[in-house]
Amino acid sequence: MARINENYTRLPGSYLFSDIAKRVSAFTTANPDRSIIRLGIGDVTRPLAPSVISALHQAVAEQAESATFRGYGPELGYDFLRQKIADVHYGRLGVKIETDEIFVSDGAKSDTGNIGDIFAADSTVAVCDPVYPVYVDTNAMAGRAGHYQSSGHWDRILYLPCTQENGFIPEIPGPHVPAPELIYLCFPNNPTGSTISAIDLRDWVDYARRNGSVIFYDAAYEAYITEDLPHSIYEIEGARECAIEFCSFSKTAGFTGIRLGFTVVPKELRIGGVALNSLWARRQSTKFNGASYLTQRAGEAVYSEQGQKEIRETIAYYQDNARVIREGLLAMGWSVFGGKNAPYIWLKTPQNLSSWGFFDLLLNKAGVVGTPGSGFGPAGEGYFRLTAFGSAENTATAIERIRTLF
Ligand code: MLT
Repeated sequence: MARINENYTRLPGSYLFSDIAKRVSAFTTANPDRSIIRLGIGDVTRPLAPSVISALHQAVAEQAESATFRGYGPELGYDFLRQKIADVHYGRLGVKIETDEIFVSDGAKSDTGNIGDIFAADSTVAVCDPVYPVYVDTNAMAGRAGHYQSSGHWDRILYLPCTQENGFIPEIPGPHVPAPELIYLCFPNNPTGSTISAIDLRDWVDYARRNGSVIFYDAAYEAYITEDLPHSIYEIEGARECAIEFCSFSKTAGFTGIRLGFTVVPKELRIGGVALNSLWARRQSTKFNGASYLTQRAGEAVYSEQGQKEIRETIAYYQDNARVIREGLLAMGWSVFGGKNAPYIWLKTPQNLSSWGFFDLLLNKAGVVGTPGSGFGPAGEGYFRLTAFGSAENTATAIERIRTLF
């Protein structure tokens, strides 16, 4: 008889954002006349940049002619896009990345979820708490997380608490804690909106190199950095020997619907003489047929001079929403974090409400949807996340409704 992967049966509930979507859908069914403002999942609302749209049209036209039609593309990405990523994305940071170190994909969610495939099934893992749930759930599915505890933690995962006290920056494990083999870091951070300085990031790189650990660096929100902070872990010396970086077009260029991202696996990154670059290439070319030609042409357009100008305008729009949320809640005397170099605003729930208690209150009384901090891990209890990706009008209305409620 066929057997299932028992690890799936150990997962608690459903994926965080599916859970929220179900609750909101139940609410809207029961209250069809209520207007709902969604600042929960970090999904963008502005249309794609004109340069991107015109590249998509052009690519569609090519697909309509036998002379320019394209079928299967290179699984790891078209050279025209890999070259732009190397030249524009990394070039402006002064970071040298070879095109064959760049793996184009359908987004950072898939890659951060799949990267574990090339590591030992019983590798030890460290994550921040709170954390983007994909890192934890995918390790639980792979059987690396152990058993789920009533505390909300898995017993084989090392959690690095990110709290108000440490500025939401994970601390390096002490000398008596066995060094985790795989370390997930995300900056600017989802969900707290915190950022990491080059000095702190260098400490993590040094730690990983000393211990033979690999850092998975999720840089999906780097385009939101406004201060002098690292955009890529490869700005830190030695990172090429210990880090894999994930980037996304979702929040940078509004590709949440059309899907595009990339992962960098430097050639210096080797374990026991085996290059992880070759393993990831082997994994991707076997299990993935590449992002679509259309989408990659759209991605290429993002890196044109005009494309860059257009996406920067949209990012500025969302950054202004972040400012409106942040300043609006601060003016109410609330404790508010993030939102300066990140599209996420992390707030301490008022009146000591639990994260889900605040979620329910906000949904029922203000018609505003956010994400309960506890959904990102036990250290998120008592916190709440709002995103800056709504329309400017909805964002202002949401803050006004919250102000009226409290
Ligand atoms: C989030 O809201 O945390 C993100 O949008 C989810 C994602 O990127 O998958």
